[in-house]
Amino acid sequence: MCGIVGYTGKRNAAPLIVEGLKCLEYRGYDSFGLAVMESGDGSAGHEDAAGKPTVIKKQGRISDAGSDVSVACGNIGIGHTRWATHGVPSDVNAHPHTDCSGDIAVVHNGIIENYAELKKVLIAEGHVFKSETDTEVIAHLLEKFCNTADADGLIGDEKIDFAVKNLMNTLEGSFALLILIRGFNGLIAIKRFSPLVLGIGDDELFASSDMTPILEHTQKILFLEDNDYAYLTPDGIRVFGYPSGEAVEREVKTVDWDVESAKKGGYEYFMEKEIFEQPAVFVNSFRQKIDDGAISVLKKASSITVVACGSSYHAGLIFRYLMEKYCKIPVRVEIASEFLNFTIAKGTAVIAVTQSGETADTLAALRHAKANGCPVFAVTNVLGSSVTRIADYVLYTRAGPEISVAATKSFTAQCAVLLRIVSLIGKGIFEKELFEIYPVLEETLLFDPADASAVCKDAENIFYVGRGVYYPISLEGALKMKEITYIHAEGCAAGELKHGPFSLLTPKTPVVAVCTKDDAYPVMISNIKEMKARGAPVIAIGSSGDKDLKEIADIFIPLPRSENICEVISATIILQMIAYNTAVLLGRDVDKPRNLAKSVTVI
Ligand code: AGP
Ligand code: GLU
Repeated sequence: MCGIVGYTGKRNAAPLIVEGLKCLEYRGYDSFGLAVMESGDGSAGHEDAAGKPTVIKKQGRISDAGSDVSVACGNIGIGHTRWATHGVPSDVNAHPHTDCSGDIAVVHNGIIENYAELKKVLIAEGHVFKSETDTEVIAHLLEKFCNTADADGLIGDEKIDFAVKNLMNTLEGSFALLILIRGFNGLIAIKRFSPLVLGIGDDELFASSDMTPILEHTQKILFLEDNDYAYLTPDGIRVFGYPSGEAVEREVKTVDWDVESAKKGGYEYFMEKEIFEQPAVFVNSFRQKIDDGAISVLKKASSITVVACGSSYHAGLIFRYLMEKYCKIPVRVEIASEFLNFTIAKGTAVIAVTQSGETADTLAALRHAKANGCPVFAVTNVLGSSVTRIADYVLYTRAGPEISVAATKSFTAQCAVLLRIVSLIGKGIFEKELFEIYPVLEETLLFDPADASAVCKDAENIFYVGRGVYYPISLEGALKMKEITYIHAEGCAAGELKHGPFSLLTPKTPVVAVCTKDDAYPVMISNIKEMKARGAPVIAIGSSGDKDLKEIADIFIPLPRSENICEVISATIILQMIAYNTAVLLGRDVDKPRNLAKSVTVI
């Protein structure tokens, strides 16, 4: 989830790159770097860009960097602010990455899935790697393809075309790339599954992960499509489609956003932006390869215990329902701060689920498990975080930085990774459905929460109910609602309501019921009727086309038509959207609710 930025024109690139990276810092901030080079002055021997790119890169935040980073001279430049996925945050792993000769510099947002195989081959061919990143293979591959082009007598654009097309042919995964090559008088931009836009100014051109850094200079924006590659040179922008290599026309739009709103990509709050990132985040988190060794340890365990707090605890509960049902492995889920009160059965594997990797209670629980001789696992979003140093096995969620205090995309990413474990142990269960979930989640995001929020915003208490896997989903829905709206919301197993909370039901106490057509459907319908009989307004989330539920509920929210397992994730997103919209209606400080912190690093 890094941010990348590029410039070519008549100005000194470095200060522009530094300012651009500051706008993109929300996308990652564990390290930063830039590379600049001078274009040729047109004199004999200097027709093209001269000299190697100068690279400056460091661990830390661009906003804390000294003025020394802006001193590099050159009118063509690229920059990167990193959110590490492969290789810990460090000076050497920071981008740009270079080839052996130092003639090529690359910044990358995304993940190269086949980097390990490629790296092995490149090392065998004599390339020397400096970093642990997946990205560095790109610089060495370009070096290799440029050398082949030289040997074949290709020059100028033909040589660059050859190298770029071979690169795109070789790489698997997601990438937005900006590239400097000595001798090429401009920038090379490539896009596949990661965002990249171009800006057209007066005698200058820009490239960036989003429009924010560009809008201060020009409102003319060109949106690249997947598998486009583009050359930004003094002659303008030329865009080509891969694999055809044909020139393609991309519309140039005039964007009149103000720069402030653009920092959140046009969304009012980071929470909204993060909700909308979930289709890609879920798929990236589910699709990743999980170490066979880790899976075999879990398979052999006599039981699994999950330790976590807040939303991460709810993700653990979802895992429990699915793991027990489909893999028949007993799973216990404990609130991390309570874990030290209990004994740990012999042969138990313990999984800490933590977005930040820094939650003090979760770290203490995992250390306790490790001291008791358990194999310990971490499911986390943050590379190099404290939990990764305790765990024997680390499984990463691919959510990118989450800024809003309320967990949204990190929660569904945790579900994705935990579901992947269920799928791998359960002989491929859910694999097909979840590989194809992207359009279902896109459709989910079309939901308009206005009616449901209008009911919730005036309530003092809201109940969230569900059965089976929808019980933890209800807990999560209630947590989202209470933490950002300050309305008291309580998640309950639908069957438990009659054992006490029923006395609180009145026409002023909305009940949000999640009731899809799964095994629990008939009894959920009876429960909803019982609640209706006590006068409570019911907002029901159910399967598409469920006429009976529509009939009973005051507000019926149909999920997109999909498999049961996909409905679980869709329902979660619907609940996030209702909470978000209610908080906006109430004028709350959505991203920074009172009294809360994103990482709870104290016990
Ligand atoms: C919920 O929206 C969060 N604000 C909170 O409950 C969070 O899930 C909890 O603090 C755990 O954090 P972690 O995943 O970083 O360990
Ligand atoms: N995979 C690259 C790295 O770890 C880029 C990270 C990203 O875009 O998230 O450095």
